[in-house]
Amino acid sequence: MPEAKTAQNFQIIPLPAETSEPHLLNHEALSVSQITLSNFRSYKNTRLHVQAAPVVLTGPNGSGKTNLLEAISLMVPGRGLRRSPLADLQNRAASEPWAISIELRTEAGPLRIGTGKDNAINDSEGERRLVYIDGKPVRSQTMLADHIAMAWITPDMDRLLAEGASLRRKFLDRLAYSFDPAHGMRVLTYEKAMRERLRLLREGTLDAAWLAALENEMAQSATAIAATRKHLVRRLRTGISEGGDAFPKAKIEVRGTAEDMLETIPALPVEDALRCAFAASRDQDAQHGNCSTGAHRSDLRVVHAAKDCPAELCSTGEQKALMIALMLAYVRLLSDQRHMIPLFLLDDIAAHLDTFRREALFDEVLSIGAQAWFTGTSAKMFSSIAHQAQFCDTCSALIQL
Ligand SMILES: Nc1ncnc2c1ncn2[C@@H]1O[C@H](COP(=O)(O)OP(=O)(O)OP(=O)(O)O)[C@@H](O)[C@H]1O
Ligand SMILES: [Mg+2]
Repeated sequence: MPEAKTAQNFQIIPLPAETSEPHLLNHEALSVSQITLSNFRSYKNTRLHVQAAPVVLTGPNGSGKTNLLEAISLMVPGRGLRRSPLADLQNRAASEPWAISIELRTEAGPLRIGTGKDNAINDSEGERRLVYIDGKPVRSQTMLADHIAMAWITPDMDRLLAEGASLRRKFLDRLAYSFDPAHGMRVLTYEKAMRERLRLLREGTLDAAWLAALENEMAQSATAIAATRKHLVRRLRTGISEGGDAFPKAKIEVRGTAEDMLETIPALPVEDALRCAFAASRDQDAQHGNCSTGAHRSDLRVVHAAKDCPAELCSTGEQKALMIALMLAYVRLLSDQRHMIPLFLLDDIAAHLDTFRREALFDEVLSIGAQAWFTGTSAKMFSSIAHQAQFCDTCSALIQL
């Protein structure tokens, strides 16, 4: 097996003396104070201390910048910003299990969160990781959502506006979890019932009562899912309208069978209509091996408002700018709704923006007051925030444990 990269080390360049930290952040802002990584991706045993101000992580390609953001992103429920299988997180040269420990400053005081490989289960057995809050194991990682709010923008997200509905729908659902943790459970319930119904239809098990029960479950969860998505989109529209002019305004809407019906009729008749639609499409679904209607077909439609142009027809740069505007709106919304300014991870963002947009983005992020984590191959791109951010070079002096 090839030797994995050795642990990366960080040198914190302190904030300039004239910058006093308390002015930088709103008291509600969450911030990381320390991260310890063990056998995680390219890191063996490494620690990083940071102040509450925004962080700029610099270093050459492959030096571990995204790995570090990924570690932070695992402090909220889910699979982190790369959405990698848990097995990929294990340092390839280490036999000890991977673990991450993060200390946070929160309004309620310091908080320590740990997560890592569950040695009791094989990698092939699933995607469960252990989670500790203040040293105590918790039953479900969903409990992390009670303590932490987080948003991220990654280079991968550029594809979202150009590609098919499924990526955008999943993206919207992920955003919705932060506001309504039950949304995730409803999506799982819906998908499970849908898979089970398809299995019965494929096998030709025409047990009408069983099918009707599954379709009932699908209709109820699809209606609730659609209502949450619509509610979030309405609130995001407000967030978008509050943004500055540097980024294009997006017109957004969520379209789908249940979402469209909810425009004109209340939830109960929508459930009835879905139940009827599922029952009526049994033959067709059995033939095609898929479910022709439902919550898994909805799409988040995004239009560049000034150009009145669907996002998928916009240039790559315009799509990126629309996505940034959308995420800034989401972060503003999270701050309002959760009364907690989220951590904001912006991976490799500066490289793809012109100077005007880059500086506008820095201004917006600083005005929100979030502890933002920027990554980039050069500190030069961040020179305009040299006095407000702390710079960590992945190739400099070490905190090796
Ligand atoms: N499980 C693993 N074990 C060991 N090394 C890994 C593992 N997963 C990824 N790596 C390595 O981590 C290194 C750093 O990756 P990372 O994506 O963090 O770099 P980066 O600094 O963000 O680079 P870029 O500027 O290109 O985005 C890569 O060389 C990769 O091969
Ligand atoms: Mg990277």
